[in-house]
Amino acid sequence: MSAIHYDLGSDQILTLTIDMPKQSANTMNAAFRDALNETVSKVQGDLDNIRGIIIASAKKTFFAGGDLNEIHKVTRGDAQAFEDMVNGMKARMRALETCGKPVVAAINGTALGGGYEIALACHHRIALNDNSIQLGLPEVSLGLLPGGGGTQRLPRMIGLEAAFPLLMEGKKLRPKAALKAGMVDELADSVDDMITKAKAFIEANPKCQQPWDKKGFKLPGGAPHHPTMAQKLAIAPAMLKQKTKGCYPAPERIMSAAVEGAQVDFDSGSLIETRYFAELVIGQVAKNMTGTFWFQLNAINGGGSRPEGVKKEPFKKVGVLGAGMMGAGIAYSTASRGMEVVLKDVSVENAEKGKSYSEDLLAKKVGRKRMTEEKKADVLARITATDTAADLEGCDLIIEAVFEDSNLKAKVTAEAESKLVKNGIFASNTSTIPITQLAKASDKPENFIGLHFFSPVDKMMLVEIIVGDQTSDDTLARAFDYVQQIGKIPVVVNDSRGFFTSRVFGTFVNEGICMLGEGIHPASIDNAGLLAGMPVGPLTISDEVSLTLMQHVRDQSKKDVEAGGGTWNAHPAEAIIDQMVNDHGRKSKAAGAGFYDYPAKSKKRLWPELETLYVNKAKASQVKLQDLKDRILFIQAIETIRCMEEGVLRTVEDANIGSIFGIGYAPWTGGAIQFVNQYGVREFAERARELAATHGERFAPPALLIEHAEQEKLFI
Ligand code: NAI
Repeated sequence: MSAIHYDLGSDQILTLTIDMPKQSANTMNAAFRDALNETVSKVQGDLDNIRGIIIASAKKTFFAGGDLNEIHKVTRGDAQAFEDMVNGMKARMRALETCGKPVVAAINGTALGGGYEIALACHHRIALNDNSIQLGLPEVSLGLLPGGGGTQRLPRMIGLEAAFPLLMEGKKLRPKAALKAGMVDELADSVDDMITKAKAFIEANPKCQQPWDKKGFKLPGGAPHHPTMAQKLAIAPAMLKQKTKGCYPAPERIMSAAVEGAQVDFDSGSLIETRYFAELVIGQVAKNMTGTFWFQLNAINGGGSRPEGVKKEPFKKVGVLGAGMMGAGIAYSTASRGMEVVLKDVSVENAEKGKSYSEDLLAKKVGRKRMTEEKKADVLARITATDTAADLEGCDLIIEAVFEDSNLKAKVTAEAESKLVKNGIFASNTSTIPITQLAKASDKPENFIGLHFFSPVDKMMLVEIIVGDQTSDDTLARAFDYVQQIGKIPVVVNDSRGFFTSRVFGTFVNEGICMLGEGIHPASIDNAGLLAGMPVGPLTISDEVSLTLMQHVRDQSKKDVEAGGGTWNAHPAEAIIDQMVNDHGRKSKAAGAGFYDYPAKSKKRLWPELETLYVNKAKASQVKLQDLKDRILFIQAIETIRCMEEGVLRTVEDANIGSIFGIGYAPWTGGAIQFVNQYGVREFAERARELAATHGERFAPPALLIEHAEQEKLFI
């Protein structure tokens, strides 16, 4: 069966329905290309009998885009064959586009990437007016570019400036917004309405040509050589570099393809696009990003870390203890996904304050017309703010987010646990205390688990699930389901102090602070963090987390390690943190003073005293940027390998996804373990040894790394 159904009606309107056999969505793979070849030849033969063509889909979505399984495998050696293949497919689409007859895309569902590019190659685009539909070119988020003509047709349709954010940020739009942006030409209320409108377009435009194929075509908004556009384009690459920090080749190549392509005829532009596309496809960053953001994320979302055989049952009522920053966020995320929430604090006033956090977030949504007043009221009505434990009766899950204090956590566990339904789950949102230790306060440690959220909860997509020594598979599976029910990404780790994310995060900030102690300029340190690809520098984030909290966590960990008979290995950063807090009263951003000053009416700036206290001019002027960047990325990757070695991490997928979504590990790397793989495991171990020799034993390769390096074995 062909992937494209060919139905030539008695009205001489040809409907091409894309319906890839044995696939739930249409993708651009070999079967599609064969079908396209065949179809286009047939169209060419039947052209005299065809008045117009409608391209439709038999799937729920219109077309999902390029086949990433195929793209991910392309190597440098395959580059020419890949280019030929892409150009071949584009030539078929071009043949339809230039056949002289009107071609209409009937977009019945989501059309992203290659899917939307098929629609772009049509003369008219009609989308179903359904808010669940997304349209756009998100290839950039996987390190790729729209290689099916997107970088050429979209700018020719809506202008370079309007196309840039869609191409370079991969923005996805709902049909109404897409209509406004000029990405589609019409909306339809139903599939029938869409076909009627498509036929009306064909009727009204018996001969059709794309604007760019007409004589005298002018690029909307001005061609690159137009003085105002030339001025904008002169600074555009610098502005882009400011965003990408040079870590992401895809948006740079997209800009090049679009601007260079806009200066030549369409077909030459299309060749330029394919060249850049192939360059990205075989490049390492696309491999990193596609591997992690597509394959590994899908594996996690597909339940890869969920124990099998446990029945999935939706959660209905969730208790949240502590209506502080975290509790308030957890309550919001849970109630907005339809669950009842009991938000308990020591006083109704506190609990109400926590609930008002949801009210504020929902009001913003209403203000932006993303939600109705009615829906907002529904969500709020689901949150009960209380100071009474009895209100927790009948919860399927209770999550505690009270102060980080083991005794208090034990107290609230004992108080609330009995209110759970039979087999209900008790979870702690502790950021550092081992779950096995906290579970001692529970009558049912098999039903006790860690659910480590990140701040701000409403924005952060990750939840780190921590399995204690006694946590059952059943509890893990159900906790996994809850995280998915609130639309977040679950990574599963075994118990340890600081688990995975807090441990690795600690190495990042400590390394930055340690550099300051060595005399390196603080501006160089934070810039090195950004240039390595971290979302913020280590000193900035230290202020945000607060130096006092870092002190508190360190003191608690030290006490516990020593109580267990171990020796605490002091990190060189500790002395600096103590000096900042104890000697200089510089506690945090919230307190108005940390590594930075936070003047009320102007932008933050580095605390000038850091220069006199720490900066060693001779050292600061000699330090190499690459060394600073390496230290920042290596120390976190090494700690991640230690977590694997100690069995804290269960899978490479969890390591990569957890590091990016939990702590912002440079996304271009594909995550802390993929950074090692792509660096070369042996080369990574060698560089780690070098860093250990210069900067301390903390960089020494762990045994697991040495084993992999010796066997030249990737972490998979
Ligand atoms: P917070 O200080 O903002 O809130 C704690 C809340 O617990 C306060 O409203 C307090 O009144 C309430 N509380 C105290 N005793 C209580 C009791 N007996 N019953 C009910 N409520 C009680 O603290 P935050 O930042 O929300 O942290 C809460 C927990 O989440 C801590 O364990 C923390 O380590 C953890 N966490 C914090 C993160 C952060 O970024 N702040 C990130 C991840 C976890």
